[in-house]
Amino acid sequence: MEGVLASLQAFRVDDLATHGGRTWAYVYETGRPDIEEIAEKAYTAFLGLNGLDFTVFPSLLRVETEVVAMAAAHLGGDESVVGSFTSGGTESIILAVKAARDRFRRLRSAAPDAANASGVHHTSGSRRPNIVAPVTAHAAFHKAAHYLDVELVLVPVDPITYKADPTAMAAAITADTMMLVGSAVSYAHGVADPIRELGRLALDRDLLLHVDGCIGGFLLPYFRRLGAETTDFDFTVPGVTSISMDFHKYGYAPKGASVVLYREAALRREQFFVCADWPGYTVVNSTVQSSKSGGALAATWALLHYLGDEGYLQLAGEVLDATRRLVSGLRDIPEIQVMGKPECSLVAFTSESLNVFHLIDEMRELGWYVQPQLGNRGSKENVHLSVDPASRGAVDGLLEALRECVERVRGMGPALPVEVHRVIASFDPTTAGPESVGALFEAIGVRDGRLPARMAPVNEAMNMLPPAVTEEILKDFVNDLFVHRSA
Ligand SMILES: Cc1ncc(COP(=O)(O)O)c(C=O)c1O
Repeated sequence: MEGVLASLQAFRVDDLATHGGRTWAYVYETGRPDIEEIAEKAYTAFLGLNGLDFTVFPSLLRVETEVVAMAAAHLGGDESVVGSFTSGGTESIILAVKAARDRFRRLRSAAPDAANASGVHHTSGSRRPNIVAPVTAHAAFHKAAHYLDVELVLVPVDPITYKADPTAMAAAITADTMMLVGSAVSYAHGVADPIRELGRLALDRDLLLHVDGCIGGFLLPYFRRLGAETTDFDFTVPGVTSISMDFHKYGYAPKGASVVLYREAALRREQFFVCADWPGYTVVNSTVQSSKSGGALAATWALLHYLGDEGYLQLAGEVLDATRRLVSGLRDIPEIQVMGKPECSLVAFTSESLNVFHLIDEMRELGWYVQPQLGNRGSKENVHLSVDPASRGAVDGLLEALRECVERVRGMGPALPVEVHRVIASFDPTTAGPESVGALFEAIGVRDGRLPARMAPVNEAMNMLPPAVTEEILKDFVNDLFVHRSA
């Protein structure tokens, strides 16, 4: 047994560090071993239970309803707010979209003409519904739309604040719109959309409004209590009909922990899937997954009780302090510009004079992981930083490293030669065969399915290619990456 476990441990040699405060994306580190210990113990205690059937594991039902009630109370919900525990923000968002879609279909088939306020004639409930969202809405909405055959209408955001523009969103609403989306906060820039105005719009036009609180849902109420200026976004805002909130981010739970909440049970009902029409056991799924462990759920419950409101408030204070010091330090570096006005714990910065992709590589060389974000839909390519309690002790070191890297990349030009830029600019996915994709990979340094140590050429290429082309290329890349490998 020891040998097997040691092998697994050894596989991690090239992994990004999950501890030590130098990883500024993917992980939400508290720096507190006691928090990890209780989460792991609770996780293993419920690991073998199966959420496939909560009637035979009433402990799961109890723990989930208690976690959901705590989440609802945290987000200003009364007793009529209900929800489900899910595996993550993406699943929470997919479920909110499914609930909206099935409600739309039901309303349309019940009253095809009455449901249509714009005068366009609908004769059946078969029209494809749409969601109107700011371009900054998380990619999980693209995924939900893709899986659920719903149209996603993306609306530009304010170019300075990166916040949703309610007037532009109102103009994008059609007779087939079922739902509006706002973030509190957006992943890309860490800013909250004007949820009150979106709520008014939703009520005016009789639409659902989902607030993506995956990042800010848990943290913003604490930030507010700590005196920070925050946007209203929860169930106290009229018009908000559902909210997603992750525990595996600022609740510090192990991955696989989120919640989707609804203002009323009638909407959540549309999220469920039931199948009594096959010869096996009757399937009653409240979420996307069928068989599922109770581990992450139990760990979440344990943390909520162990840390309690005071414990989380203290951790939020550490995040707020680190974020403020980070933003003020970044503003002191003339070569970089903080994007928008970060309202929570996520910060993006760009540069007019430096190649940010080089900057990211240089930071990696110095042992810091900061995340690249490509230029897209009015947002220039930039560097993303997620702050957590462990950042508090690391922020000065990060800023020092950044200042050094700014010096290092000053004068560095594009990561790719001009000829390659030319190849990329003329790359046509409709005519490109595998050879030209292979040649492109070679040119940007991707060989034998392996990424280069310095990622600037790859990021630069993706930044230039149309997103739809990048997406196709990435599918091929991943298809090659996961290959049969014998132990
Ligand atoms: C605002 C927001 N929404 C949704 C998600 C998706 O969450 P997950 O990765 O847990 O599926 C994220 C992830 O970072 C996010 O920041």
